[in-house]
Amino acid sequence: MAGNAWRSTLLKLLERCGVRISDASSSPEVSRVMGAIKSPQPKTFSRGIQTVTLIPGDGIGPEISSAVMKIFEAAKAPIQWEERNVTAIKGPGGRWMIPPEAKESMDKNKIGLKGPLKTPIAAGHPSMNLLLRKTFDLYANVRPCVSIEGYKTPYTDVDLVTIRENTEGEYSGIEHVIVDGVVQSIKLITEEASRRIAEYAFEYARNNQRASVTAVHKANIMRMSDGLFLRKCREVAENYKDVKFTEMYLDTVCLNMVQDPSQFDVLVMPNLYGDILSDLCAGLIGGLGVTPSGNIGANGVAIFESVHGTAPDIAGKDLANPTALLLSAVMMLRHMGLHGHAKKIETACFDTIREKKVLTKDLGGNSKCSEFTADICQRVQDMD
Ligand SMILES: NC(=O)c1ccc[n+]([C@@H]2O[C@H](COP(=O)([O-])OP(=O)(O)OC[C@H]3O[C@@H](n4cnc5c(N)ncnc54)[C@H](O)[C@@H]3O)[C@@H](O)[C@H]2O)c1
Repeated sequence: MAGNAWRSTLLKLLERCGVRISDASSSPEVSRVMGAIKSPQPKTFSRGIQTVTLIPGDGIGPEISSAVMKIFEAAKAPIQWEERNVTAIKGPGGRWMIPPEAKESMDKNKIGLKGPLKTPIAAGHPSMNLLLRKTFDLYANVRPCVSIEGYKTPYTDVDLVTIRENTEGEYSGIEHVIVDGVVQSIKLITEEASRRIAEYAFEYARNNQRASVTAVHKANIMRMSDGLFLRKCREVAENYKDVKFTEMYLDTVCLNMVQDPSQFDVLVMPNLYGDILSDLCAGLIGGLGVTPSGNIGANGVAIFESVHGTAPDIAGKDLANPTALLLSAVMMLRHMGLHGHAKKIETACFDTIREKKVLTKDLGGNSKCSEFTADICQRVQDMD
């Protein structure tokens, strides 16, 4: 098929998949016009009690959510929770959506805390996590990976943050059969999404006193798609001269990461690389059970979440480790400007782990989730 015919077929296909792109034939780059873009004026948080949407989730979700609520209460964090369940429902036109009560709550409160959600195989609906990302245009996944004192792993000095573009790339969900036995999956990279994730990474570095941002890519192979991503990172870097900018191939990052993770600071990358690299980095500090995560969206929306699954094997047995959700909630407090409460809870959590007297099984102890939670609550109260 000639170049122009391919282009128009692809544009039609993208439109059928809900992706609208202007056909800027005269330019080698396409501009992204779908979805909302980052609000220039994110919601500012007032003093006083603030309401946060809580999605406890499935499996161990309710147990670890309850642990977080108890610790927040002990720390007198000025948060009230608005609990919402999230299950996929079919909306007008047969489109999958999250329940309107959950959407309205998030639209109103802007900030959410979410436990794990199960993705039933062959349920017919997309993953709930994906649906939430799409619904609120949660374009940046942020995962700080910092070594935890007292929890032994092969590395002791990890202190880095992965920032993953969350909305497009290989996860655009556009796949089709060309002819029998040949399938094609489209990796969608747009100028708009690349620019906004790069801007977020540099802003994050600046606001969190981090020295450098590394763009992770394979532009040597995917010259157009990763090339565009990299070009936008370079352009944005020009506006942040106080933050050092480097660019590295994904394979080199993986090699160097396992040799010496301490050389990395903030890493920004497209969706698939971020999915893999962020789990790899979580592994360096002890796994998903201790790694917090935040998803930053358009219009001031942000959802903080534990990235482990629903752990059906231990659900309802009071054995779950609530650390990942608790540290995600600490990230949330910082995002809301509640630094004092964040510090108090974080310190209590790390002290409990460092002392090793009350640890859940996955951390090498024999304690229940409720005992671990009670220990953190006691420490928080003792700080007053
Ligand atoms: N972010 C999410 O919502 C998310 C992420 C991954 C998987 N899932 C869903 O979770 C379900 C189960 O997935 P899976 O079994 O592959 O992964 P999983 O993370 O639920 O479990 C893997 C292992 O880790 C343990 N584990 C996980 N979290 C723990 C915690 N906080 N404390 C103690 N032990 C913990 C489990 O007991 C299990 O042995 C699936 O339906 C999957 O789709 C959801």
